Amino acid sequence: MPGDKSISHRAIMLGALAEGVTEVSGFLEGEDSLATLRAFRAMGVRIAGPDAGRVTIHGAGLHGLAAPAAPLDLGNSGTSMRLMCGLLAGQRFATTLVGDASLSTRPMRRVTVPLAEMGARIATTERGTAPLAISPVDTLRGIDYVMPVASAQVKSCLLLAGLYAAGETCVTEPAPTRDHTERMLAGFGYAVRREASRVCVRGGGRLVGCAIDVPADISSAAFFLVGASIADGSDLVLEHVGMNPTRIGVVNLLRLMGADIEVRNERDVGGEPVADLRVRSARLHGVRIPEAQVPLAIDEFPALFVAAACAEGETVLTGAAELRVKESDRIQVMADGLAALGGDARPTSDGIVIRGGALRGGAVDSHGDHRIAMSFAMAALRAGGPVDIDDCANVATSFPGFAALAAGAGLGIAVEG
Ligand code: S3P
Repeated sequence: MPGDKSISHRAIMLGALAEGVTEVSGFLEGEDSLATLRAFRAMGVRIAGPDAGRVTIHGAGLHGLAAPAAPLDLGNSGTSMRLMCGLLAGQRFATTLVGDASLSTRPMRRVTVPLAEMGARIATTERGTAPLAISPVDTLRGIDYVMPVASAQVKSCLLLAGLYAAGETCVTEPAPTRDHTERMLAGFGYAVRREASRVCVRGGGRLVGCAIDVPADISSAAFFLVGASIADGSDLVLEHVGMNPTRIGVVNLLRLMGADIEVRNERDVGGEPVADLRVRSARLHGVRIPEAQVPLAIDEFPALFVAAACAEGETVLTGAAELRVKESDRIQVMADGLAALGGDARPTSDGIVIRGGALRGGAVDSHGDHRIAMSFAMAALRAGGPVDIDDCANVATSFPGFAALAAGAGLGIAVEG
């Protein structure tokens, strides 16, 4: 499985702000994390690689970034845009952040509003979307922010701005979200105070370059966990998969549905838990998804919806309105795609109700959303005929080589165009 996308982004960002050299292995060479890498190069940071997942970052220090010559193009990557918005809000130079058509529709006020409370000056479009024009300010001030949505991107954005703020910046989350930023800051020697649902950093410290071994991305493994579960006679081992407790909702939920997933060889790699996962075919049944699991599986719902469509009985998801503002409206796009294959999926305002049954072949539009495309590739394992998936180029944002790896695991898959 390819390297973890969330951790790859953060390795570049913190490595660039550190003093000294950071050596990264297992870096995800996908378009999203490469967009982050190119953006820091454009701000004068010397970065060698990637070369077979190895990246060497010569840190510029917290105050060593240089003004880029042009707007920073972050492609399809929401993580790059939201985290960098915080990191750049405290710089002494102006930047403009732009993205592709999908990223340019995604909500950015969730970061620009709290950043403005810290003293940042950031202009969005009237709709609160990118381009984001960030103006330099003399100083930011720490705030104590209670997030209205459970978002690791918002939390991370504010913590990164907090590195440049006077006093302490604290963020309280309504439910646990991925904590890679907190773990990695600590790994770079930066003091992070954590108390229950609140996390705080104090501005003015320093980061020290280090070695980072990026585990495989559980969000990418999710397609194979679902595929192997729904296809007859499967037996797959996925190695070195990140098992951070804030990311393992997909394993918890598939097991709740009756999946046969064995967690082997659990270990700690550079402050992140890692394991090998053995997954075999199983008879899945529908479940009511506990809302506490939603942030822990937020990127894996397209794959989980395919599992639900192949399970016996009904699966009900609530409390997941966030899915409507991802790379696509993942509730509507998945419901439409499952319907195109003869599935029974009823979208609701904040979730979906899926009744399992037989799927037939058909044509599905992924709306340029990598995770929708890969989920329907797995649905083909149980469809009565071929599944044609349109608009798949963005699979390369998170999982370059997906088709080849899936073919190697037994999926009849071909890429056209
Ligand atoms: C991410 C956080 C999540 C997730 C995204 C990556 C991160 O977004 O969906 O793919 O790396 O912090 P939200 O924070 O908007 O839930």
